[in-house]
Amino acid sequence: MPPGLAAREAAVRVIAAVLNEGRSFEAAAAKQFEDYGLEGRDRGLARLIAATVLRRQGELEAILDSYLQKPLQKQKSLLWPILLAGAAQLLFLQMPPHAAVGLAVDQARRDRQAAHFNKLVNALLRRVSREGAEALPALDGVALNIPQWLMTRWRENYGADTARKIGAASLAEAPLDISVKSDPQAWAEKLGGTVLATGSVRLAAGGRIEDMPGFSEGAWWVQDAAAALPAKLMGDVRGKSIVDLCAAPGGKTAQLVSAGAEVTALDLSPQRIERLQQNLARLGLSAETVAADAGEWAPERTFDGVLLDVPCTATGTIRRHPDILRLKRLEDIAALAEIQSRLLDQAAKLVAPGGMLLYCTCSLDAEEGERQVARFRERNAQFRLAPIKAGESGVAAEWLTARGELRTLPFHTPSLTPGHATELPTGEQDKLVGMDGFYAARLVRQS
Ligand SMILES: C[S@@+](CC[C@H](N)C(=O)[O-])C[C@H]1O[C@@H](n2cnc3c(N)ncnc32)[C@H](O)[C@@H]1O
Repeated sequence: MPPGLAAREAAVRVIAAVLNEGRSFEAAAAKQFEDYGLEGRDRGLARLIAATVLRRQGELEAILDSYLQKPLQKQKSLLWPILLAGAAQLLFLQMPPHAAVGLAVDQARRDRQAAHFNKLVNALLRRVSREGAEALPALDGVALNIPQWLMTRWRENYGADTARKIGAASLAEAPLDISVKSDPQAWAEKLGGTVLATGSVRLAAGGRIEDMPGFSEGAWWVQDAAAALPAKLMGDVRGKSIVDLCAAPGGKTAQLVSAGAEVTALDLSPQRIERLQQNLARLGLSAETVAADAGEWAPERTFDGVLLDVPCTATGTIRRHPDILRLKRLEDIAALAEIQSRLLDQAAKLVAPGGMLLYCTCSLDAEEGERQVARFRERNAQFRLAPIKAGESGVAAEWLTARGELRTLPFHTPSLTPGHATELPTGEQDKLVGMDGFYAARLVRQS
């Protein structure tokens, strides 16, 4: 195989698995990278191409369609994913045209159903390379790439201006955030990153995580700055008993154990509990683990704290999981909200008097966040909201609701501590912006 072909073929198969078969990006990538034996840089390249297509599908299709005299059958073969991947390399990844076009043609030739379109692939991608960059700025990226139902939902929740800002931020690549066991400043210096006001260390994305200093000895783990807030908002947990009810892969469990809590980590999926155990083992941290349905689990005891990080539409994490744009549907919100309210009611039973229930979700939808908690409080009068205050754990006033719930949006950025990152040129600083959209409410049981 010519150099670079395996990475591009794997990327195209990941794109096809997501768009044609509805598979998740991570599952498809794991399978294809293994099948193609991709390592290091090739994995990174395949990932970048596939993620860019999933983010920018609308704009890429608008440009390709404008060059076609009659529409192509998009769902059937690898032809359309090959074209999307080729166009993404030319328009968004600034790859040399001879490589992007030549390797796309090679791929078409190697696929039985796409083979007789190889001349079309060549002609179309050459045209993209000549004219596409000029056509691109005239397109409305937010309107074309974000599904309409999602934009509508964001407009209803946040108003038109904020919805557009959410849309634009969701299409960007996220920086790499890590949570460190101790001494964030020293790790920031060692890794070339910056410490955020919230305590996470932020680096520009890129590079193999496993090869970075401190990974194998378990000094830190990958966790978005916003995802690191809910566990911090549980306050001083030293010596407290805490159950983390939807715990895998264990980012929040690791924070709580590191902070000195006695943690029980539960998850529905035994495979994901295994992953959590592996992650904790690497970090040299320990927790009791349980594989069970949090909606049914009824131990004969209560806990000082319960953390409930519910399964959700995850629309706050599109930057990291662009397949959400292509796979989630409006109906998913109501279906998940029903599961969340069942989990909340069961979680409430596990909280000792005076104890805390921290509910959180990486969905941007109020139905899974603000309204979910409002309904819970109507059903459970013994819980009061303990408002989160600006300044706590680096939380900015802008990320709080009037009632004191956390509501981060993808265009919010935690302040960077002065030093290395703030001295970077603007282009580099741009890679350090944003955070996942997260919602968290802190509830305390009064009796
Ligand atoms: C948002 S993820 C949790 C992320 C995790 N808290 C962390 O910080 O790494 C949601 C988790 O809920 C689990 N889950 C889904 N339904 C569940 C249920 N009924 N009971 C327990 N866990 C469930 C999923 O397997 C998934 O691991």
